[in-house]
Amino acid sequence: MKKIGVLISGGGTNLQALMDNINEGNINGEISLIISNKKNAYGLERGNAWGIESIFINPKDFENEAAYNFALINRLKEKNIDLVVLAGYLKILSKDFVEAFENRVINIHPSLIPSFCGSGFYGERIHKEVLNYGCKITGATVHFVDEGTDTGPIIFQKIVEIENDESVKSLKEKVLKIEHEILTKAVKLFCEDKIVLEGRKTKIIQEGFHEKGLN
Ligand code: GRF
Repeated sequence: MKKIGVLISGGGTNLQALMDNINEGNINGEISLIISNKKNAYGLERGNAWGIESIFINPKDFENEAAYNFALINRLKEKNIDLVVLAGYLKILSKDFVEAFENRVINIHPSLIPSFCGSGFYGERIHKEVLNYGCKITGATVHFVDEGTDTGPIIFQKIVEIENDESVKSLKEKVLKIEHEILTKAVKLFCEDKIVLEGRKTKIIQEGFHEKGLN
């Protein structure tokens, strides 16, 4: 069984989707550690409620980003973490971190990469820009993390249609729903060693995933 470490910064609905699917036996893995860079992240309460070690590590307690990232690396290594999931984690990982968990870090991003991604593109700003641009579709992307921002090999993407009277709030909710879907699917297949990386492309060895709504 794979050991999973989840990094969060906020409410943790993606984290909850993972916990629910692990609890329902859909993912052959366990969340061994949850780390937040925000003290009041509700995701920490979600983790504590399920008896998962859920900790706040304050970047301000470290002299620089490199030192903070080494603290993260050490806590995750202590738990023998196999997979690190960025579930609404709004900080850029250091080069040392990406190297320490090479091809074992995945991120969920609320747009169809390479559109509306990169430095500064996070949270509601993404949906605002999508609507302002007049897009007719948008979606979400789950990808491996490399040394760039939102530039790693894509694992899954899914589309949502944009209605005439769409608001930032309604679009965010629609996209969050499919985020939960594709992030859970990617973690499931990673835990079954069914995701193959070929350069910057990924291949799924076998789909075969019959869980609610994820066919
Ligand atoms: C999600 O839209 C995620 O893609 C983005 O931040 C949001 C966090 O949602 N990075 P939650 O904390 O998982 O509810």
